[in-house]
Amino acid sequence: MLMSIENKVDALFQSEFSRKPSLFIAPARINIIGEHTDYNDGFVMPTAIDKYFVFGITPNESELSTIHALDLDEKVSFSKDDLRPGHGWQNYLMGVIDGLIRRRKIPGGVNVVFGSNIPAGAGLSSSAALCSGFGFALNTLFDLSLDRLELAKISQEAEHHFIGAKVGIMDMYASLFSKKDSVMLLDCRNYTHEYLPLGFTDHEIILIDTKVKHTLASSEYNNRREACEEGVKAIQHQFENVKALRDVRVSMLDKLRLELDETVYRRCLYVVQEIDRIQKAATLLKSKDVSTFGTLMYETHWGLSKLYEVSCTESDWLVRLAGENHITGARQMGGGFGGCTINLIRKSQRVTFEEQVRKKYFDEFKKEPEFYSVNLARGVHEVNR
Ligand code: GLA
Repeated sequence: MLMSIENKVDALFQSEFSRKPSLFIAPARINIIGEHTDYNDGFVMPTAIDKYFVFGITPNESELSTIHALDLDEKVSFSKDDLRPGHGWQNYLMGVIDGLIRRRKIPGGVNVVFGSNIPAGAGLSSSAALCSGFGFALNTLFDLSLDRLELAKISQEAEHHFIGAKVGIMDMYASLFSKKDSVMLLDCRNYTHEYLPLGFTDHEIILIDTKVKHTLASSEYNNRREACEEGVKAIQHQFENVKALRDVRVSMLDKLRLELDETVYRRCLYVVQEIDRIQKAATLLKSKDVSTFGTLMYETHWGLSKLYEVSCTESDWLVRLAGENHITGARQMGGGFGGCTINLIRKSQRVTFEEQVRKKYFDEFKKEPEFYSVNLARGVHEVNR
């Protein structure tokens, strides 16, 4: 029988540190609709899934933290007094400790083994899960009294300061706050959320991994964010109450069209339309109108592709094929430039569609796509044992 990731982490921890660790689970996320809206004070509709990190961890009564990444078989030790951005995954963890220290919440040294079943580079936000899970574990073990929102902010800052990716709050918030079998409508302006059951019972969610690694993602992401900020500054000359694209209507953009740089205009137009779509999507979810909901997902995709320009040939191709096959909804998910498409698909269509994608995708791109069925899962938690 295959060993679960929990058991592997537990076993490696015990053989390495001769103690039984506390175990924490930190899930990856999907996002149903609402892309590139979080850093514009907009709404998003993410949730955690049953793909996650497991941390085995104990305090070690020293100044030094020793951390073993099981899947990569890499090990590092560092002290909280010597946190410098370096290479790879340890940056995320150092970033979390740095955020705690800046809040005068000082953790002691820890021994850690962590492992994961999150597919790498698939755009499921493993980095946010890594930061959120580590922060949550330290908060619990050292009684630091931080709430989940503060932990989400610490994770976000870790990405900003230690990775240089100016990400929004969505991924870490989803990893920390999600509830099993629900999605959340998250308002990124005031950090409040509402849980909504995904009540489309004859449908399932399938992710299709393009296998395109989003190498451009970080720099292109930051420059999309800058374009939005530039747009807001220009809009504020005429509409001084505008604080973010959340406050902008299409009619306002049109009024300013000639004053805005053409690219900035298209970026802003996408975001303003997308914020509007999510609110419509929430209403459709409540009234269980799956077909119109799916149409909005396609609209998001083509907005991401044509206006925001963060798609790629493979994602466009997959979404087009989904449309031709009358799949209810499909779009590229996450930051962009590859990763997965998210498909809202009638259960009865799943097998045929999958067969067709496998064959045609290979013929077209000479690589195998990967299919992930996902279940909507609970956010970061400690495993009772
Ligand atoms: C990445 C970022 C998020 C969000 C999405 C796009 O996943 O980490 O904050 O901006 O891209 O919606």
